[in-house]
Amino acid sequence: PVTPAAPKKERNFVKLMQQQGRRVVIFYGSQTGTAEDYASRLAKECAQRYGVNCMTADIELYDLSYLDTLPEDTLVFFVMATYGEGEPTDNATDFWEQLVTDEEPQFSQGGEDLAALRYVLFGLGNKTYEHYNAVARILDQRLTKLGAKRIGERGEGDDDGSLEEDFLAWQESMWPAFCEALGVDESSAQSGPRQATYSVEELENYEKDDVYFGEIGAKVKGNSKPVYDAKRPYIAPITSRELFKGSDRHCLHIEIDISGTNLNYQTGDHVAMWPSNNEDEVMRLASVLGLTDKLDAVVMVKAVDPAASKQYPFPVPATYRAIFRHYLDICAPASRQSLLPLVEYAPTEESKELLKLLATDKDEYRVKVGEAVRNLGQVLELAANGESSGSFASVPFDLIVESISRLQPRYYSISSSSKEQPGSIAATCVTLAYQPSTTPDRTVYGVNTNFLYRMHLQSQGQDDNALPVYDLAGPRQSFINADGYKVPVHIRRSQFKLPRNTSVPVIMVGPGTGVAPFRGFVRERALQKKEGKSVGPTVLFFGSRHSQQDFLYADEWSDLFATLGDDSQLITAFSRETDHKVYVQHRLEEHGEAMWKLLEKGAYIYVCGDAKNMARDVNQTFVKLAMDYGNKPEDKALDYIKSLRNIGRYQEDVWS
Ligand code: 2AM
Repeated sequence: PVTPAAPKKERNFVKLMQQQGRRVVIFYGSQTGTAEDYASRLAKECAQRYGVNCMTADIELYDLSYLDTLPEDTLVFFVMATYGEGEPTDNATDFWEQLVTDEEPQFSQGGEDLAALRYVLFGLGNKTYEHYNAVARILDQRLTKLGAKRIGERGEGDDDGSLEEDFLAWQESMWPAFCEALGVDESSAQSGPRQATYSVEELENYEKDDVYFGEIGAKVKGNSKPVYDAKRPYIAPITSRELFKGSDRHCLHIEIDISGTNLNYQTGDHVAMWPSNNEDEVMRLASVLGLTDKLDAVVMVKAVDPAASKQYPFPVPATYRAIFRHYLDICAPASRQSLLPLVEYAPTEESKELLKLLATDKDEYRVKVGEAVRNLGQVLELAANGESSGSFASVPFDLIVESISRLQPRYYSISSSSKEQPGSIAATCVTLAYQPSTTPDRTVYGVNTNFLYRMHLQSQGQDDNALPVYDLAGPRQSFINADGYKVPVHIRRSQFKLPRNTSVPVIMVGPGTGVAPFRGFVRERALQKKEGKSVGPTVLFFGSRHSQQDFLYADEWSDLFATLGDDSQLITAFSRETDHKVYVQHRLEEHGEAMWKLLEKGAYIYVCGDAKNMARDVNQTFVKLAMDYGNKPEDKALDYIKSLRNIGRYQEDVWS
């Protein structure tokens, strides 16, 4: 049986590079897979175009104290995402502690500097957040301070703007600097035929037990009791109920049963759910690639380079169907760079021209693909001008594997209290469906929320033609069967936590599904009160459009706040009931004096929901309270709120 590559035991990457004749190592700190994709793309360019032998490396798997032993003619790339409040990604935390947090990092030779090191740096961030690209910036400073020399400019990509274009633009000046540093003749760069990263083989003979039909992580064999984590999610039974139903959106309350497993969570953590792709999109891509009749054929996909750090792109051998449904992010907008190698396979001159235009003209791409959120299948259909069936059948499948990212789990703030229900995790999900501004006649659906909604309808024995249909009973879909509905899940720890001391007051602001973690918080505080603990004032600001439509958990709050007592309250802001908008920050201002008093008593502030507008406006409002009631001039008020953040009394769980 072939299972995804086990992490290499050798943690000395320099030794590995020497054994394999590599001159470049590309480390990535990745949370959702984008930095990892970018690292692979850089590696491909490095090897194919410049003929420099290189490897990509998950930064977690190697000991970076060997950075001081790299030979002079080598280069290290860092492709590092910034996460949350300016933090490194989960796979980079050890590295971060070792090299950045530690005032005096020790390197393998006992030295304290990296004078011989040369590095290339690209950061992935999001300008919506305060600490834009903090990881790349801090790392750059740190490495410079340690005597290392950066090659080219530091690249910074903005996920709120055009990450992809930032990445491409940065490479324009980086590669010449790279060539100079390694003594590579840039003019001799190869632009010959494409070299495949993966080989694909359709198998005639296989053991059915060895085939992957959608499982994430290596198969569990025999009676062994698996340990579930991010690499091997637990396929959990779920139940769902509808919290509200509007013309354009639905909201589900999901309960995920984790009893009897090693999984546990704490109130305020996140749950990751691994979605399956929309069946319409699976069929669309299969059709345009001419694979409709072969969806259940079993294929082996593996790296051509036997020393590649990733031998398999996803669990294999697998069926085409499983690959489209579960392993590739086929619904994501196609990246501009991925379109160019497909041009030569276009069926007609006209379609070649069109695809080439999309691949090379930034604005055409933006309007027709990026902002239109057209996935690869849809772009190929567009290029083939409706003649979709089999029109791109000549595209080698390994190119498809290379062009589309891995399907990633989606994260939700847990909406239950682990003290109240340790064996079950609640999540609160609004279905996403929108009309892109550049193609208002099309509707784009959120992958996971619609997957969940589909399951919900099926479990209710209902159907809803307004949404694309999932064929949940399709052949060999291993974890959705007659036993009920299941979703692969894992848990991610968060810093978003109630104060240890229950008597400390808390102020929570969570409009829309931003209320999710606060359902957990309020339930936990009510439970503690019932247990006889002293529980401080608990104030929740909730906002939604209409009290009769999307007031989440409306039936739960009154009992909970009655238990919590008179100094606790739920304060609501319904934005579409009056002729002017009423938002949570307006209510916060109205209750400003009382909230200021709570802050003076040491209250903790929690904000959850939209990062871009709401969280900023709420922050501004707290600054205003410090001015109005704390009599602080503006700069001192700003400092005050900042200091609350620094000591963990102002916590955010926000998304964009
Ligand atoms: P609206 O859609 O009527 O503008 C949950 O989504 C609630 O948050 C809705 O009532 C929504 O109002 C509101 N909302 C929208 N923008 C906001 C902002 N900048 N600050 C606070 N709440 C906002």
